[in-house]
Amino acid sequence: MPLLHVDDVVVQFGGVTAVNHAQFEVEEGTITGLIGPNGAGKTTCFNVITGLQTPTSGKVLLDGRDITRMPVHRRSRRGIGRTFQRLEAFGSLTVADNVRTALDIHDGFSGIFRSANADIEHLLDRVGIAGYAQERADSVPTGVARLLELARALACDPRLLLLDEPSSGLDESETEAFGDLLKELASEGRTVLMVEHDMDLVMAVCDAIHVLDFGSIIAQGTPAEIRANKLVQKAYLGYADEADAADETKVMSL
Ligand SMILES: Nc1ncnc2c1ncn2[C@@H]1O[C@H](COP(=O)(O)OP(=O)(O)OP(=O)(O)O)[C@@H](O)[C@H]1O
Ligand SMILES: [Mg+2]
Repeated sequence: MPLLHVDDVVVQFGGVTAVNHAQFEVEEGTITGLIGPNGAGKTTCFNVITGLQTPTSGKVLLDGRDITRMPVHRRSRRGIGRTFQRLEAFGSLTVADNVRTALDIHDGFSGIFRSANADIEHLLDRVGIAGYAQERADSVPTGVARLLELARALACDPRLLLLDEPSSGLDESETEAFGDLLKELASEGRTVLMVEHDMDLVMAVCDAIHVLDFGSIIAQGTPAEIRANKLVQKAYLGYADEADAADETKVMSL
């Protein structure tokens, strides 16, 4: 059974269909990419999975259990964590206190409050931003703020981690280190679902990729399969021969 099953989800905002019968699965312990052009519905899918957006129709299943109507905090308790495309750190708090807040809320779920500096240091060290611990979150570079979001998500010890454009703002060597960190998280048994526009990173770390276009999944497969898929090349990767793409009528599946 897959860890996550997005089952025929539709999201409409007035006349805009942001997600159009999207259907995909995420296997436990994998790094899975959700890619596609701007406005394809990727963040809206994340909002449906985490509970910030109620779908117009369709279901979300975690471990086979229907969580479509479950509130955000209960999904978090069940192991769903996320980062946001638009950074959501508390700007007036230090980097360390942002992580402390996440740890306190998480520990509050289990009834134990503690401010464990060692845990905060460990999390900041893990994502590589320990040197910024005492800086205000609104004064650090975007790349650091993204890694702070990841540290806060990890504070909740998620089984399923949703990352929305995590490498934007990271330079090349930071992105490489970030890819290694993702692989480490997966090797610990965590599952990562990542929206990302850096195709080198996606192709290097993902076990499986789902491609959204105008709210619909147009292809699913391994990085090699996705790179070779003419529909994806035309819709997103931007190097297709249009005539070849027109011949491609079938959606590739795993
Ligand atoms: N709250 C909202 N109200 C109205 N329309 C919305 C809302 N949120 C998203 N949309 C629209 O839904 C569509 C999908 O948006 P979404 O943010 O999910 O795309 P995305 O794939 O994450 O794009 P990007 O790569 O630019 O982040 C877009 O047309 C967007 O304008
Ligand atoms: Mg988005």
